[in-house]
Amino acid sequence: MVAPNAIKEEYLPVLKKLRELNKPVEAKELSELLEMDYGKLMSYAVHSLSTQGLVVYSEENIIEYRLTDEGKEYVQKGLPERQLYSLLRKDGRTSVVLPTLVEEAETELDFDKKIFYIALGNMKRHRWVLSSKAMGHEEIFLNDKNESAEKVSQEEALDLFQKTDRIKEIAIPPEMSKAVNLLYKRKLLTRERYTERLVKLTKAGAAVDLGKIEVIDKETLQITPEMLKGGTWKEALNALKPYNVEAEAPRQQVGKYHPMTIIIHQIREIFHSMGFEEIQSPIVETAFYNFDSLYQPQDHPARELHDTFYLKNPSKGRLPEKKYVTAVKNTHENGGETGSTGWRYKWSEKIAQKCLLRTHTTASTIRKLGALAQSETKWPKKVFCIDRVFRNERLDRTHLAEFQQIEGIVIGENLTLSDLIGQITTFYKKMGFKKVVTRPGFFPYTEPSMEIAVYSEELGQWLEMGGSGIFRPEVTYPWGIKEPVRVLAWGMGLERLAMLKLKRQDIRELYQSPIDWLREVKY
Ligand code: PHE
Repeated sequence: MVAPNAIKEEYLPVLKKLRELNKPVEAKELSELLEMDYGKLMSYAVHSLSTQGLVVYSEENIIEYRLTDEGKEYVQKGLPERQLYSLLRKDGRTSVVLPTLVEEAETELDFDKKIFYIALGNMKRHRWVLSSKAMGHEEIFLNDKNESAEKVSQEEALDLFQKTDRIKEIAIPPEMSKAVNLLYKRKLLTRERYTERLVKLTKAGAAVDLGKIEVIDKETLQITPEMLKGGTWKEALNALKPYNVEAEAPRQQVGKYHPMTIIIHQIREIFHSMGFEEIQSPIVETAFYNFDSLYQPQDHPARELHDTFYLKNPSKGRLPEKKYVTAVKNTHENGGETGSTGWRYKWSEKIAQKCLLRTHTTASTIRKLGALAQSETKWPKKVFCIDRVFRNERLDRTHLAEFQQIEGIVIGENLTLSDLIGQITTFYKKMGFKKVVTRPGFFPYTEPSMEIAVYSEELGQWLEMGGSGIFRPEVTYPWGIKEPVRVLAWGMGLERLAMLKLKRQDIRELYQSPIDWLREVKY
C-alpha cells in the first residue's frame, strides 16, 4: 500500500465521518449523511481513499426476512392458533363445540373461515387441544396432557421480530431457521434479496493522524512534459495522486451472454466453417419421424412411455405423402426395396401418427431427408441441427428431461466410414479435444454404427461423447436416397459437453443459472 501523504480537501469529510461513526456504513447512507452526491462519493472520494488504502468498499448479497402486514398483526396479537386457544380458554372454559367457536372467532377475533381452520389445525397439531365427535357434533377441548400449551418454535421465531420488522438471514440462529421458513411459507414474512454496499475504514484509515495530514485542494493526476521541462514537477510530487497498483479495480457487472449460448454459438461457427447449413424442425413430432422413419419397430422399448412424452393434444399428427408412408411401412413389414427382410410384423399407421415431444434431433434429420427427396438439387449436402429434445428422465446430477442435442449429417455419393471419421475428428478437434476415437456401437438406424469418445485432459480420462454411423438403406430408401448415395450422421448431447467445458458437476446448474457463477464465469 502506498502511504497517504496528502488528501484532497473535498475527501477529508468522508474520512472524518467514517471515523466519527466508527463502523461500516451503507454507501447510500453515507452520501446522505455527508450531503454528497452518491456518484461523486463512490467514483471519486471512496475510490481515491481506497487507492490510498484508507477505506475499503465491499458489496455483499443479502437475504432478509421482512414482516408482512399480516405478520405485523400477529407480532402484536399472537399467531391465530394462540389467539384461538386463548378464546377457547375464556372464562376458564375447557371445551367448546365447533360451531360456537367458529362464530366467536368471527365476532371476537375477526377470523374468516380460512384463518379459523388454519388456526384450529395448528392447535391440534401442537396437541394443545383434542377434538371429539362423540356427542354427534365436533367438540374441541383442552388436552389434559399439555395444559401449559407451551410456546412453539414458530412463536419463538415470530418473537425475533418484536423490535424490528426485518432480519437478515445470517442473523437468524440456525436452530430457528426452520421455524422462520415456516413463517415465510405462511406468508407472514417475505424474503428479499438485495446488495449491501458498505464503506469502512481500514486500519490505516482509522490510525491516520488527521491533524498531520496534508490537505491539497487539487490532485495532480499526471506529470506533464511541461512540468518536466520547467522543473515544476518536484513541487507537484506531493500533490500527485498516489497509485496503488494492487488495488482491486471496481467490478463491472455488465450484461453478457449465458455460457450455454456462447457454447452454442461456438458449435454453430464450427459447423459453418466445415460447410454445414443449419436445419430446424418442430418440437412436437409424430412417431413417424421420430421412430418409424428410423427403422425402429413399433414395439421398440425406447418408444414406451417411460422414455417418451406422448401428447394427448394433439393426439394425431400429419404424415408425409402416401408414397413415403407406404415405403416406410413396407420397409418395416418386408424390407421394401432394400433387400432386407424387414421386421416382419403388421405396421400400424395409427401408431405412426401419434404425437410426442421429439426424443432426438435425428427426427429433424429425417424431415430434412424428406424435404430433399422433393427438391431438385439433393446432394452433396451437409446440414446440422442444435436443438431441444425431451425424454421422461428422473432429474439428477447428470440427467434432465429437457435437454439439447447436436447433430450433423453429410449426404453424397460413395461416402465411406473414413469420411465419417474424418468429419467427426475435425469437428471434435475444433471443439478443443485433441484425441478422438471411434469404436463400434449400435443404433437401429445406422450400419455400421460407432460410438465417439474424446479424451479430457482436465479429467485425465476418455469420455463418451456421442453416437454416429451411416444410415441404413431401410432409413434412406423410402426417401429415394439409394446406393451409391449414402448419409453419414453423428449426434451428441450438448449439456455433457457444456459441463466439461464449464466445469460443472451438476447438469441442473446449467439452467438454474446460479448468479454468482454466471458473474464469475470467464469465456
Ligand atoms: N440419435 C442418437 C441419440 O439420440 C445419436 C445418433 C445420431 C446416432 C446420428 C447415430 C447417428 O443418441
